[in-house]
Amino acid sequence: MSNRILVTGASGTIGSTLVKLLSEAGANFEVLRSQGSASPGTRVASYEDVAALTEAFRGIDTLFLLFPLVENKLQLAKNAAAAAKAAGVKHILRSSGAGADPASTFALPRLQGEIDAVIAATGIPSTFIRPAGFLQNFASFMAGQVQSGTVYAAQGDAAQSLIDARDIAAVAAKILLNPAPHAGKAYTLTGGESLTTQQVLDLIGAAAGHAVKYQAVRFEDAVAAMNGMGMPAWMVNLFDSLNRIVAAGYAAGISPDVQALLGRKPTSVAQFARDYAAAWKKAA
Ligand SMILES: NC(=O)c1ccc[n+]([C@@H]2O[C@H](COP(=O)([O-])OP(=O)(O)OC[C@H]3O[C@@H](n4cnc5c(N)ncnc54)[C@H](OP(=O)(O)O)[C@@H]3O)[C@@H](O)[C@H]2O)c1
Repeated sequence: MSNRILVTGASGTIGSTLVKLLSEAGANFEVLRSQGSASPGTRVASYEDVAALTEAFRGIDTLFLLFPLVENKLQLAKNAAAAAKAAGVKHILRSSGAGADPASTFALPRLQGEIDAVIAATGIPSTFIRPAGFLQNFASFMAGQVQSGTVYAAQGDAAQSLIDARDIAAVAAKILLNPAPHAGKAYTLTGGESLTTQQVLDLIGAAAGHAVKYQAVRFEDAVAAMNGMGMPAWMVNLFDSLNRIVAAGYAAGISPDVQALLGRKPTSVAQFARDYAAAWKKAA
């Protein structure tokens, strides 16, 4: 049976590793870019445009769907669902988030759950991967704080089981290459260690070669700081909900799903820190 795969979010944190793994596996796949010119192996369409998306999804058997964190994310998911149905996609792998639940009282998992429900309602056989927070956040938007030696967050002293995004990509590749056994399944993807932010920063500091301290701040102060940086209100609301989830200890659980799917342990935080050490070196 043919299994032509389309990878959305291909330029992103998960997608860039996923593309590499599919390539190494010799998979029959193409990527979707939101803008630019189409070329062999690259289709172009924005989630904003159902007609263009429908064209881009045509002939695709298995679709990896990843939505960016934008204000109209739910609408983009509705557009993608309509396009997938119209184009005759046979299986969807949707990259969601841990705790996704349309009935959640917390804004972020509620949104993820609402999107999962939109995908499930297509009736297309679907699989959901629900990752915890990415370790890569320390090397992207938090890299400056790590370099400065102090990381501020409103997450109390709670532990989290953060995951290396490369493991999410490895799970996604495995499912995309043989989707049928995973139809109707949802997997929670966490790291294999539940550590406080200070414990994670101790490992990052050891790899970076300088101490990094965690400074807990109050929820209200984090909201004021995000507002002060000019972050839009919808995003502040989602991040505030995330802070409250983590501080309450809801992000501390370790799921067996990565190990079960990959047959190996999740990447350790120490290994992640060694691999990304260059992101935190202080300028000489
Ligand atoms: N960071 C975390 O800790 C965390 C934890 C759990 C879940 N998540 C979820 O993971 C997702 C982000 O994953 P990521 O970090 O791998 O992605 P990312 O690096 O933020 O990249 C976003 C991707 O979305 C694509 N995109 C943006 N606008 C588009 C549009 N209008 N049409 C089509 N494609 C569009 C981009 O492709 P182009 O370059 O072609 O525009 C890009 O590849 C979010 O949904 C977030 O909620 C994140």
